Amino acid sequence: MYAKIPEMVRAAEERAEKTSFEQSCEPAVGALLGALAAAVPRGGRILELGTGTGVGTAWLASGVGPRTDVTLTTVEVVPELAESVRAAGLPDWVDVVTGDALDVVPRLGRFDLIFADAVAGKWEGLDVTLGALAPGGILVVDDMQPARYDRPEHRAVVDRIRATLASDPELATADFVEATGLMLATRRAA
Ligand SMILES: C[S@@+](CC[C@H](N)C(=O)[O-])C[C@H]1O[C@@H](n2cnc3c(N)ncnc32)[C@H](O)[C@@H]1O
Repeated sequence: MYAKIPEMVRAAEERAEKTSFEQSCEPAVGALLGALAAAVPRGGRILELGTGTGVGTAWLASGVGPRTDVTLTTVEVVPELAESVRAAGLPDWVDVVTGDALDVVPRLGRFDLIFADAVAGKWEGLDVTLGALAPGGILVVDDMQPARYDRPEHRAVVDRIRATLASDPELATADFVEATGLMLATRRAA
């Protein structure tokens, strides 16, 4: 991968390593999140479901860069994980919310970029996440390769999510499951 790993991301990866947390997003996905976050308009809002140790959060925040006219809300159900990310000293426009995404998200309003990376709001309650997607907003859903899953019922869930998104007339979807060399570059908004 050519994209440089931002310092904030390295710190979050170290927290993951120290705590044996193995569910952080891959660098290629993180870099895509950063590229998309860079395009969020003035006053824009970003949401992440499932904070973990903050790797995805850090990619999103790094993509926003030095701007302070954007907010990033990340929701994590495990209090210790949420607290460790809060303690990491992220920019003050990043809000780490402790709670179940399905309870919290309906109260948060709408977002321009959503990274759905928890079971809640993806495997279950996808409608809640879609309800939080603003017109023109982008939803990123990771781990949608059915072959990653051994159990047929898990592959069926992934198929269902992909079919739901692809068949929604209000959504334009791009499915990179089979992609080999995707590169996306967004110029940071002024
Ligand atoms: C795949 S990991 C997130 C990784 C993180 N987004 C990243 O890129 O580094 C999924 C996270 O979702 C959290 N989670 C699970 N159920 C949840 C729920 N109902 N609401 C919010 N977070 C949840 C888990 O505790 C876990 O930390």
